[in-house]
Amino acid sequence: MLRFKLQTLLRVIPVLFLSLSLHPQFRFVNAQLPTGTETSTPLNTAIVQAGKKYLGDMSDFPELNDEQYLGTLKTPGLFGQMTPGNSMKWDATEPTRGQFTFSNGDAIVAIADSAGQIMRGHTCVWHNQLPSWVSSGGFSAEELTEIVEEHVKGVVGHWAGKMRNLLTQTPISDSWDVVNEAFNDDGTMRESVFYTTIGEGYIATAFNTARAADPNAKLYINDYNIEGTSAKSTAMINLVKSLKSQGVPIDGIGLQGHFILGQIPNTLVQNMQAMTALGVEVAFTEVDIRVELPETEETREQQKADFNKVVEACMQVEGCVGVTLGGFTDKYSWVPGTFPGFGAALIYDEEYVAKPAYDGIVDAIKGKSD
Ligand code: XIL
Repeated sequence: MLRFKLQTLLRVIPVLFLSLSLHPQFRFVNAQLPTGTETSTPLNTAIVQAGKKYLGDMSDFPELNDEQYLGTLKTPGLFGQMTPGNSMKWDATEPTRGQFTFSNGDAIVAIADSAGQIMRGHTCVWHNQLPSWVSSGGFSAEELTEIVEEHVKGVVGHWAGKMRNLLTQTPISDSWDVVNEAFNDDGTMRESVFYTTIGEGYIATAFNTARAADPNAKLYINDYNIEGTSAKSTAMINLVKSLKSQGVPIDGIGLQGHFILGQIPNTLVQNMQAMTALGVEVAFTEVDIRVELPETEETREQQKADFNKVVEACMQVEGCVGVTLGGFTDKYSWVPGTFPGFGAALIYDEEYVAKPAYDGIVDAIKGKSD
């Protein structure tokens, strides 16, 4: 009797373990998901060989204190560019009027330099992560214009000439997101404190000040949902056209690229070509492709195809200079905290294992569609 029970138990246990391990709620299910296989091809080296300037990522503290994170970040040839996720924003750099704090941004520049990575400054004038002394200060148009000038001059001026790759010393590699997210999705201007107090002119003010503070930086306007043709991307194109006709110094349009799995627009190339036809460069600046959790084999394959499509679009547009990912490991992605139920938006999982998405990028760089 006892023996019979033992035998049954021995048969049941493996079956139970297998079915549990396949259940999406269990973490070790990751072991079952497909992973990247082309990791011997470092992404930045490959994209530079194919004629682009960089394949980079957005990083900041606390992850930059994590040794494992730094290990992957500094893998030779993997990432050639870095954008700080938070440390150069207004709340981080000028929390009180006229009192600038650059220490975290400086530390990030030092890490990027030590890894041979070029920098993108991010971001001067934005309605988010804006200290309340600016957003609720009740300033007149004249005062707020002055405040914008002081801020842009302070921040861009501080890093002028310091955000260069020590290896190449090319000033052209240094870019800034001068204005971020100026539009609503319907193409109207976002009613930020800058727009409601100053009007559209705050944009020209910011760019003129940035150019004076760092004549070598490529100056960008950056936004999301402008990657494919849309009312918002048309509004962006019209704004840039108008700025250029007024002689406002603008060099690039940044496409953030916060995508949803399976919803990459089919008009990326056409849209970016319309932008570069204005005489500006374009770049994908914060790419992530969020998945409605849990991940499955299918979502991983779809994500591979999606990353492939985005990078392929950049490869096809001459004026697309590079691609920056919105981080590289799911361990530190902003997605789960901002979009409940979504996650897994990056090319490495939380254990730093590359996903098929990595291969999707390699394939795109090599000219292969997935
Ligand atoms: C995000 C950061 O990644 C988060 O750490 C932070 O809490 C919120 O901002 N558009 C941008 C980025 O331009 O600066 C934002 O980054 C994501 C949306």
